[in-house]
Amino acid sequence: MALSGKHLLGIEELTLGDIDLILKTSRSFREISTRPIKKVPTLRGKSIINLFFEPSTRTRSSFEIAAKRLGADAINFSVSTSSVSKGETLIDTGKNLKSMNPDIIAIRHPCAGAPQLLARYCEPTCVVNAGDGLHEHPTQALLDALTILDHKKRIEGLNVAIIGDITHSRVARSNVLLLTKLGANVTVCGPPTLIPLEFERYGARVSFHMEEALRGADVIMMLRTQRERQREVFFPSVKEYFTLYGLDARKMKWARRSAIIMHPGPINRGVEIDPKLAEGEYSVIFEQVTNGVAVRMAVLYLLLGVGEETAP
Ligand code: CP
Repeated sequence: MALSGKHLLGIEELTLGDIDLILKTSRSFREISTRPIKKVPTLRGKSIINLFFEPSTRTRSSFEIAAKRLGADAINFSVSTSSVSKGETLIDTGKNLKSMNPDIIAIRHPCAGAPQLLARYCEPTCVVNAGDGLHEHPTQALLDALTILDHKKRIEGLNVAIIGDITHSRVARSNVLLLTKLGANVTVCGPPTLIPLEFERYGARVSFHMEEALRGADVIMMLRTQRERQREVFFPSVKEYFTLYGLDARKMKWARRSAIIMHPGPINRGVEIDPKLAEGEYSVIFEQVTNGVAVRMAVLYLLLGVGEETAP
């Protein structure tokens, strides 16, 4: 009942056994969130720090909810009111937080590799990557896999189309790594300016045409165009982007009739997806958010290795 590594820094480091254990444990924890009293004492006495250097709605609040539902103390570290604003480095911040003996630090940072750096300076505190730059967002990919399994009962052999701003998406990178490891056929699709060639090395098929990417798709994962990270102009206009790469009812007909629509959020309605589809019958977007709490409960629990006797 423990993961092979001490930290959760990326999908790349996870074994198939780790992935299976996280998904199974997430399923068993899901029921706690449906009880009238949504709290168990499993992680009582443990403390989890949320160290977020970038904005977040879903990830930060679900780590906090996950910790609290397991009886742990959750501390939200506010970067804007901390000594980071006075020039304190990440390493110094980490060393100071570690001196207060937290059990886990969940970090989101604009620089790829920040969680790995923090892990080096925070021993014995466990570090969870809650999104680092353009690199990875492992808990997002795990909650996406759980949501796909809920609907499709398998991942092996499924056709998954990931569409949008692939270059700036740590969600795309983690999902390609995870879903190909689990045997899915993954196609990444978007404008040529927004797909780095390295994705073929990860085992994904690259397409610049929505119809080609969506034909036979079982799962459609739409991604936000990350304007805040784009330092150049990657497409001429939002209208043109939506016409070529936005998901609407016409393009949806290219996918399998049973296809599900996913999105990690936040959604840019009318840019990458027609609002009617985001709320429509094929959308599982809010189920992804619900599963985020269960997956983060499982990750906190398994990293702390508190033993089978305290399992739910
Ligand atoms: N999916 C995701 O990471 O959302 P937030 O940025 O709101 O955490």
